[in-house]
Amino acid sequence: MHMDGETRVCGVFGDPIRHTASPQMHNAAYEHLGLNWCYLPFRVNPANLDASLRGVREMNFVGVNLTVPHKIFAVALMDEVEPTARRLGVVNTVVVKARRRGTAKLVGHNTDGYGLVMALTEDFRLTLKGKRVMVLGAGGAGRAATIQCAMEGVAELFLVNRTISKAEELARDVQNDYPKVRVTVGAPRSGRVDLLINATSLGLHADDPKPICCDQIGMFAHVFDMIYRPAETKLLREARRAGCKTANGLSMLLHQGAKAFEIWSGKKAPVEVMRKALHKAVYGK
Ligand code: ATR
Repeated sequence: MHMDGETRVCGVFGDPIRHTASPQMHNAAYEHLGLNWCYLPFRVNPANLDASLRGVREMNFVGVNLTVPHKIFAVALMDEVEPTARRLGVVNTVVVKARRRGTAKLVGHNTDGYGLVMALTEDFRLTLKGKRVMVLGAGGAGRAATIQCAMEGVAELFLVNRTISKAEELARDVQNDYPKVRVTVGAPRSGRVDLLINATSLGLHADDPKPICCDQIGMFAHVFDMIYRPAETKLLREARRAGCKTANGLSMLLHQGAKAFEIWSGKKAPVEVMRKALHKAVYGK
């Protein structure tokens, strides 16, 4: 990788951050397009997020991505929040916007919702309009997925979370902003459900329990697990065995990254180059 005094910096803030594959994905794009940029991982303790973002602004980064646990807290730390990110309540891409006078400003975007929609199209040829969807998880990822579903015009949402009060709060928010969408806290009792999205962290570790009791899994036509490592979680395995169509979160990660690249650079992302680099970084091939 070439670097000199004009190299511009992008990065990702998270805690933990060791397992991120974003540097390989983004740096492959920069190299492919001959951009004198580099993308680095930063372990940022939540207590230092504010100071770290100020550093990003003062040091003239191109921008940063934010991952667990920063995506919700960051909203309040932006100078400006783009409307989709505001609606989702989650910022995963920060742009440092230079100003002619004074210091640069930080603009918060969200590309996760776009990544989800692209992944569902690519992996399942599924559009969300008019569908019945159940979302597991009401943290940052669950909230963004749920609100994106409402924005896409789903007919009905079922929200399930370990801490029920968080699912209830999310249900109220959806109900207020998208009154046409029917929202239930809890799993559907019967009928066919078009899509199950796992947006909890359950499945990352081999000894994690399944995030849903699997005798119900056959009711879902499609099961999408945002987790991509392991490539097939227990949830996806059982879903596949029950005849559901399944996909993991790798293409969502790819497309949120591609969109972030486009926001930062104003250029079309070399998606296939990024996909290949991401696959290699995550699965070693
Ligand atoms: P993210 O930004 O990835 O969504 P998060 O905001 O910490 O991260 O949310 C993690 C999600 O996984 C939450 O829905 C969490 O449930 P709670 O709201 O009850 O904490 C869920 N989760 C994490 N560990 C879990 C476990 N052991 N059992 C069930 N749900 C779990």
